[in-house]
Amino acid sequence: MARVTAGLTTSHIPAVGAAIDLGKTGEDYWKPVFAGYDFSKQWIAEAKPDVIFLCYNDHATAFDLKSIPTFAIGCAEEFQPADEGWGPRPVPALQGHPELASHIAQSVIQSDFDLTVVNEMEVDHGLTVPLSLLFGQPDAWPCKIIPFAVNVVVYPPPSGSRCFNLGKALREAIESYDEDLSVQIWGTGGMSHQLQGERAGLINKEFDADFLERLIKNPAELAEMPHIDYVREAGSEGIELVMWLIMRGALDEAVDVIHKHYHVPASNTALGHLILENQT
Ligand code: DHB
Ligand code: FE
Repeated sequence: MARVTAGLTTSHIPAVGAAIDLGKTGEDYWKPVFAGYDFSKQWIAEAKPDVIFLCYNDHATAFDLKSIPTFAIGCAEEFQPADEGWGPRPVPALQGHPELASHIAQSVIQSDFDLTVVNEMEVDHGLTVPLSLLFGQPDAWPCKIIPFAVNVVVYPPPSGSRCFNLGKALREAIESYDEDLSVQIWGTGGMSHQLQGERAGLINKEFDADFLERLIKNPAELAEMPHIDYVREAGSEGIELVMWLIMRGALDEAVDVIHKHYHVPASNTALGHLILENQT
């Protein structure tokens, strides 16, 4: 059977992608950002997952105000990197896993979560920057990737508890797939940041530290935090953190922290990154 072998979260800051693409990772500003991924790159090269189920938010790239799916699962064979205004990032197309994605869609929808099935979609920095951080600049991504887009851009976003419970349903779906696959679940975005309005530039290190601690040790309680608290404490784009709860819901209550990285500044965002594994 397929297994959920690890959970990983990371910020998906577009300027981090640009630093990689433009060869600037060695600059003083960026060095401490990328140093926090040295361990992770080695770890994933050894872990060799077969599939990454990658929860991210689309930033009005594939979806716009014409249609706003709360949860969209990518079931295609292939997904191309999107042009977000400067041409597509020079990264490989993703190879999907249509069979596993369709199995997950069936299982999760029948568990009462209303997913939108997407058979054609371009993917933006929310998805490609995390892949670059973990895999560098390969000719092809070393595993299959199932994109899972969560709406946190247009009000109303899904609640933390909805995301946490969705993670549990995902795990059940993956662990009922009849092929021996190692599947990682990633949640991207965050941590505290606000890109717009009077509070643009907001960072809240205390909130972020507390969020990391509770995500690791007491996620069920953290999942009860209402949407408005994310906005007040972590800024309007801090709501991206609900996607970290999808990852967390797919793991056991008790987890080992394999790696943790937190750094400010990185563009306009507090950058956070975690790798978690079940203890058994
Ligand atoms: C930034 C961060 C994001 O998460 C994003 O989607 C866009 C921009 C930033 O830090 O500039
Ligand atoms: Fe974002």
